[in-house]
Amino acid sequence: MYTLTLIAQKGGTGKTTLAINLSVAAELDGWCAAFVDIDPQASAAGWGDHRHGVTPAVATVPASRLADALEAARGHGADLAVIDSAPHSESAVLDLRALGTTADICSLAAVASAVVLNQTPSRGPLADQAAEAAAGSGLEVSPCRIGYRVAFQHSLTNGLGVIEHEPDGKAAEEIRALFRWARARLEA
Ligand SMILES: Nc1ncnc2c1ncn2[C@@H]1O[C@H](COP(=O)(O)OP(=O)(O)OP(=O)(O)O)[C@@H](O)[C@H]1O
Ligand SMILES: [Mg+2]
Repeated sequence: MYTLTLIAQKGGTGKTTLAINLSVAAELDGWCAAFVDIDPQASAAGWGDHRHGVTPAVATVPASRLADALEAARGHGADLAVIDSAPHSESAVLDLRALGTTADICSLAAVASAVVLNQTPSRGPLADQAAEAAAGSGLEVSPCRIGYRVAFQHSLTNGLGVIEHEPDGKAAEEIRALFRWARARLEA
C-alpha cells in the first residue's frame, strides 16, 4: 500500500481539497483508496458523510492512531492511503516562506516529496514566480498545477470530487493529470 500525505505549515492552502480529489481520482483510476484524516478539525468527515458509503472510505483519527488506521486500511486491501494533515504554524504568513520548514520535515522523514502549486491564477507571472521560489527550497516542484476554480468549492459541499462533479471541466483535467503524475512517482 502506498501512502500520500498532504502537508503545509500554513492553514487554508488546500490540503483537504487536494487530498479529497486525489483519493477520488485514485478510485476512478481503479485503485482502492482510503482517506485518513488526522486533522483535529475533521474537515473531511462532512464530505465523507455526504457520500453515503461511496468510496473512498473516510476515517478520522487522532494523529497518535495513524499507524493503526494505516494498518486497518492495508488490511482492507487499500492500494493507497491519502493522509490529510493539520496546519502546524500559526505564524506562517506566507506559504512560500513556510516551505523551508516543510522541506526539513520531508528530509527528516526521508520520503519522496514534491511541491504542488494550488489555487494558481490563470494569468500573470505569479504561478511561475512561485514555482521558481519553491524550487529554491530544494524540493521537487510538480509540473501539474491546480488553478483557482470554483468547481473545487462546489463539489466539496456536495460530497463529490471535481472529477465526479464536472468530469469534462478544467479542474477535473488538472486533478487527473496530478494524480497520474503522483501515481507514476509512487510506482517508480
Ligand atoms: N484550487 C482551488 N480553487 C478554488 N478554491 C480552492 C482550491 N483549493 C482549495 N480551495 C478552497 O480553499 C479553502 C481552503 O481549502 P482547504 O480546506 O482544502 O485547505 P486546508 O489546507 O485543508 O485548510 P486547513 O489548514 O484549515 O486544514 C476551501 O474553501 C476550498 O474550497
Ligand atoms: Mg484541511
